[in-house]
Amino acid sequence: MTVGIWLTAVIGVVPLVGCLLWWWNDIWYGLVMTTLRPSKGSNKLPPGHMGLPFLGETLTFLWYFRFLRRPDDYINSKRQKYGDGIGMYKTYLFGRPSVITFLPETNKYVLRTTESFILKWANPDLVGKMSLVAVHGKAHLRIRSFVIRSINQPDALRRIAIAVQPRMISALQSWVKRDKITSYDEIKKVSFENICKYFASFEHGPTLHQLKEHLSGMLTGFRAYPLNIPGFTFYRALQCRRKAQAIFREELDKRRRKNDGSNDAMNDLLDGLMNLKDEEGNNLSDTEVLDNITGILLAGYESTVIVTMWAIYYLAKWPEVLERLRDENMVLKKCKNEQLVTSDEILKLEYTMKVVDESIRLANVSTFIFRTTTEDIEYKGYTIPKGWNMVVWLRNVHVDPKNYNDPLCFNPDRWDGSILPENFQAFGGGPRICAGNMLARLQVGLFLHHMSTGYKWELVNPEAKVNYLPIPKPEDGLEITIAKL
Ligand code: HEM
Repeated sequence: MTVGIWLTAVIGVVPLVGCLLWWWNDIWYGLVMTTLRPSKGSNKLPPGHMGLPFLGETLTFLWYFRFLRRPDDYINSKRQKYGDGIGMYKTYLFGRPSVITFLPETNKYVLRTTESFILKWANPDLVGKMSLVAVHGKAHLRIRSFVIRSINQPDALRRIAIAVQPRMISALQSWVKRDKITSYDEIKKVSFENICKYFASFEHGPTLHQLKEHLSGMLTGFRAYPLNIPGFTFYRALQCRRKAQAIFREELDKRRRKNDGSNDAMNDLLDGLMNLKDEEGNNLSDTEVLDNITGILLAGYESTVIVTMWAIYYLAKWPEVLERLRDENMVLKKCKNEQLVTSDEILKLEYTMKVVDESIRLANVSTFIFRTTTEDIEYKGYTIPKGWNMVVWLRNVHVDPKNYNDPLCFNPDRWDGSILPENFQAFGGGPRICAGNMLARLQVGLFLHHMSTGYKWELVNPEAKVNYLPIPKPEDGLEITIAKL
């Protein structure tokens, strides 16, 4: 008898509890929609699955990204189950009820409709409350247009191109002296020194080393749960931020003392921020200057490294592409009397820039970016409630066979002018589209110029597995052997 009761309990209750847990968030948010909200609009959430209490779909997400290492199947499994429909699925991810958008047009809609979908950081203390990436409206426009003028327009690109090449050239010369190098680490070193040089005129030395450590610590904080308690990653990241800010504050003070009565300005991004004025003619506060210099450094630092690393990887795997790239760059090299090339020369190399764009497409540095809804949104008969997280899945746009024929193939020739602008969203879109997109393309192009015309290389582990979190990177950091041509 007792056994019978237990059996009935196990057979009946366990699956019931399992189902209840599995659908918990769907039931809960469904109830909220129908009972607690005023009955305006459709009150119908987009299709999708919101999963377990608190965790939502986190385990499913990790299953595809970490365990299977097939990130695209996370979205593909949803596409198979619910169809493409309105280009959105509801879910519960990263601790919040969310809607994922994954088609070019829905991503574009979210990124452009800035009154309804705002960029709101889960950790504003870490990113800096006055930083360009955290402010809105006029303050955003003012700093953004200054940053674009200073780093992303032809004049700025010309100056930067000349400033960054000596470090690229000497890094390449030093690589050949070693048996093998880890590309990711090495490109990161060059990139960091370069960015610090043209942003803040910092030279190689202990301060630069410390700054690198602090910024790396900050970067890990963006991926951590925002718990400001000693021992937790986020706490450490905030400490790193304090130390990085202290380095820049000291530099500000030094420049002010030096500039007193003299015109001995450095004319770099930091100087520009110090002299930037608002509509009333007031300078930015120190906090604004410090938040922005660290924010822009963080935004531009790792992304270009990742793309350059992937370009090296793809060129090793597609030798016929490397050959064409090399031919084009050799023609440029041979007609020059000096080693340095100009930004105009690089940006005019048709095939090279196709290789760069194809590398950016496939590198998928930002798998997704976030927005938050500021109001209830009605979209094609569905409602997205106020305060929900929007996960704009950029990666899907670049690997969807509907947008790119044989999408995982590295084929620079596809950049023949036929690609629709909305099918390339690696730099985001709308008023917050990447402020350093031309600079990023130029830097990758310059690196490929020097590498392809002077060196040949091979992958040490051509079949190395790829980690997709937090950013797509081969497990070995892309080890290569490299020799002079
Ligand atoms: C290939 C390399 C790069 C990629 C793939 C990339 C990608 C992105 C993306 C997707 C966004 C939009 C974020 C959002 O809307 O939430 C963004 C914003 C931004 N990026 Fe980049 N980026 C790259 C290189 C750079 C570089 C070199 C810089 C300059 C230092 C830079 C500076 C910025 C800034 C300042 C923003 C914020 C713009 C704003 O909020 O108005 N990025 N980037």
